[in-house]
Amino acid sequence: MKVVTEIRAMQAEMIHQKKKGKSIGFVPTMGYLHEGHLTLVRNARKENDIVVMSIFVNPLQFGPTEDFAEYPRDFDRDCALAESEKVDYLFYPSVAEMYPNEPAVTVSVKDRSDVLCGKSRPGHFDGVATVITKLFHIVMPERAYFGKKDAQQVAVLEGLVSDFNFPVELVAVDIVREQDGLAKSSRNVNLLPDERQEAPILYKSLQAAHQAINEGERNPSSLIQLIDDMITNQSSGKIDYIGLLSYPQLKPLEELTGRIIIALAVKFSKVRLIDNVIIDID
Ligand code: PAJ
Repeated sequence: MKVVTEIRAMQAEMIHQKKKGKSIGFVPTMGYLHEGHLTLVRNARKENDIVVMSIFVNPLQFGPTEDFAEYPRDFDRDCALAESEKVDYLFYPSVAEMYPNEPAVTVSVKDRSDVLCGKSRPGHFDGVATVITKLFHIVMPERAYFGKKDAQQVAVLEGLVSDFNFPVELVAVDIVREQDGLAKSSRNVNLLPDERQEAPILYKSLQAAHQAINEGERNPSSLIQLIDDMITNQSSGKIDYIGLLSYPQLKPLEELTGRIIIALAVKFSKVRLIDNVIIDID
């Protein structure tokens, strides 16, 4: 595995591989790798000649009061994990390499960014779309792999790829969970021990809503109330949002039909967790 820290060097490596006719699969991450990230790598490994992972905690997608400084980082451990999954290139730029100056041009997300995480994290998806635009120009992948854990991110990036005509296929991969149902996340290490015990209630409440739908419940407010009650009664977390929308359009629903997403965010003392389920009604 080659670790590359400079943009020009990375582009030169990628052009060299492309000239040899190699297909490139790309897994962008912010590091502190876990089984969710590694599942993306395994998918990329199956479908491409060359696998590139990036590790970059992107300051542009963090708000001023968010956890950029506390975001967990462990490059040596990540390096060993990436190597053991047969990543070919690990792109690991510094903030100064990616943003030598205040950016003169950024990508602004117009659609699907005013709901769920977009509403509670203003500017977040502009930061994600901007860094992904840069990373796609640096890595030039045929395919890029994203987790459904961040389902809104997938929906927003599908808009980016389509509107800006990136010759990249986005591959969305299922959520990887702990045994108790908690969605794997780099941020889980910042839960206090009691909060870690409570955190599986996020997924349990989503499963309860899913079951209620299977049993015929079709009222979005009742489903949201069911989730709200479970989380409020069984954890110390503060609900940031619970949303029930069409997927991938992310529009409010008059009635429950087609493909929907139920997504939520809950704030614990040092960390905000997200989770979702995507359900095909009927
Ligand atoms: P990060 O949170 O490190 O996640 C990197 C990728 O791993 C994302 O596509 C995310 O959805 C996926 N992922 C995280 N946890 C997962 C889980 N439990 N199961 C399946 N996939 C999971 O998302 C980002 O970084 C950044 O926004 C990024 C896209 C790198 C842009 O900065």
